[in-house]
Amino acid sequence: MAFPQTRMRRLRATAGLRGLVRETDLRAGQLVLPLFVGESTPAQPSRQPIATMPGVERLSVAAAVEEAAEAAALGIAAVMLFGVPAEKDEHGSGAWDEDGVVQLATHAIKQALPELLVIGDVCLCEYTTHGHCGVLRADGAVDNDATLELLGRTAVSQARAGADLVAPSDMMDGRVAAIREELDGEGFSETPILAYSAKFASAFYGPFREAADSAPAFGDRRGYQMDPANGREAVREALLDVREGADMVMVKPALAYGDLIREIKRATRLPVAAYNVSGEYAMVKAAAAAGYLDERAAVLEILTSLRRAGADTIVTYHAKDAARWLAEQS
Ligand code: PBG
Repeated sequence: MAFPQTRMRRLRATAGLRGLVRETDLRAGQLVLPLFVGESTPAQPSRQPIATMPGVERLSVAAAVEEAAEAAALGIAAVMLFGVPAEKDEHGSGAWDEDGVVQLATHAIKQALPELLVIGDVCLCEYTTHGHCGVLRADGAVDNDATLELLGRTAVSQARAGADLVAPSDMMDGRVAAIREELDGEGFSETPILAYSAKFASAFYGPFREAADSAPAFGDRRGYQMDPANGREAVREALLDVREGADMVMVKPALAYGDLIREIKRATRLPVAAYNVSGEYAMVKAAAAAGYLDERAAVLEILTSLRRAGADTIVTYHAKDAARWLAEQS
């Protein structure tokens, strides 16, 4: 039946009716807050603003615990930790250092807040002098197979520090299987892997690279991250990660990739996370600061639409604000 018998507006007339038929929910418990943890020295304040990401700071370990406590109090599910080490080297050895910033922060957060989940980002780019996500061959290309062992070590060191999940974001082939094997061999068979399966070579990571000081010193990441034009390939990547033992898969960035959130969810049947990345955050913050849009309404619309696309979990720098707004609504 069509108009005039069918009137779509009938169920939109009041807040009660709209609530009755709302298809998608958004809860703080679905959100993950990324944190940047740096070495604290007497010269470095414990919270340093990041110019390209208003409202986000580089934190000392102690400040990261404070931030995590705030997240936990707001009902946020997890924090995801990125390290900004004082010193870097060719191989990124800070990534698997037992006393590395992420390991120390993980330990401190788990001690203070045992219920809050801690997710370790497994990658080398924040720890290498050249800023690439793996070790380099003589010709300057990233050596896939030589990197796998280092990623495995990094994941184990994070699990040992108490990480509840590990999330490889490097895009090397075979890393999920390599990490699974290392974890199992070291007694961490219960630690889930959240694989950044479909991670694109995106312009939207710009602000993050300033925050984490991880911009590549030469070249770009197109030799290992995906071409934004490719959707079928993204599904293949996700299916390969499933075969290698991924427990959850991620699509990143989020806003321009809703089609793939949906397709990958359908193809893998795994829980899917979407990473609402730094550039997506920065756009909203800049537009809001200029008075071009209503930040609260825009953020809740964005996060709800990622859930509608099929994301079970959303990694977002808006997590604390969103959790606060959601609490006010209910
Ligand atoms: C790499 C990594 C990046 C992000 C998360 N993990 C940057 C990159 O690949 O260059 C980006 C996240 C964001 O932009 O918010 N370890």
